[in-house]
Amino acid sequence: MIDRAAEMEAVADQVLICQKCDLSKTRTKAVPGYGDINAEILLIGEGPGFHEDKQGLPFVGRSGDYLDKLLAMIGLNRKQVFITNVVKCRPPENRDPTPDEILACKPYLDTQEMMIDPMIIVTLGRFSMARYFPGGKITQIHGKPKFDERVAYYPLFHPAAVLRNPTLQETMAQDVMRIPQIIEEVKKRRAASENNGDSTPEQADSSELPKSGGSPTQLSMF
Ligand code: URA
Ligand code: SF4
Repeated sequence: MIDRAAEMEAVADQVLICQKCDLSKTRTKAVPGYGDINAEILLIGEGPGFHEDKQGLPFVGRSGDYLDKLLAMIGLNRKQVFITNVVKCRPPENRDPTPDEILACKPYLDTQEMMIDPMIIVTLGRFSMARYFPGGKITQIHGKPKFDERVAYYPLFHPAAVLRNPTLQETMAQDVMRIPQIIEEVKKRRAASENNGDSTPEQADSSELPKSGGSPTQLSMF
């Protein structure tokens, strides 16, 4: 049995001292991610900004305040989800991360995604969107979930983009409000695939996976 908490700690420890790309030279603090490793929702942004780099925490600036408001609309706070980024160190002057930097940092995010095993992966902005929707255009695909057997991928606008363009606020709120329904749909699909007998022994042993410990009561309100 994998100790998921220990794996997540190990990722964070590695990120804090990582030198696999040049962003390590200009960062103040690396930002591994924050939240509940048993969360049903994994949110993936782009990379740390000015405040994130100072504090070592994701989404703590203006975009973070707005993200907190969006989560509150579905009865959640940031301790009940997991928030991270495609690159864990701040690109200087908040420039876009380069393909090389994203690739160097990818193993950390891959492990986090596997250990959390979320019901829904919410992408915030184009770099996390590109992981699951290569070539996708946010204006066309925002708010449209893509389901596979265990998870839904769900592209949203980046909170900073909505703050720059307030006409997107209503759309963003509507997209966020659909998250609980999408989680319910994923749960149904997981249950159906387990009933079909195609679950692995580890997945079938649900007594060892405290996945439902998050916030089922809030989520079922919708
Ligand atoms: N803060 C983050 O942590 N990530 C972003 O993508 C933007 C702000
Ligand atoms: Fe390492 Fe990622 Fe930071 Fe680059 S951005 S130094 S790969 S943790």
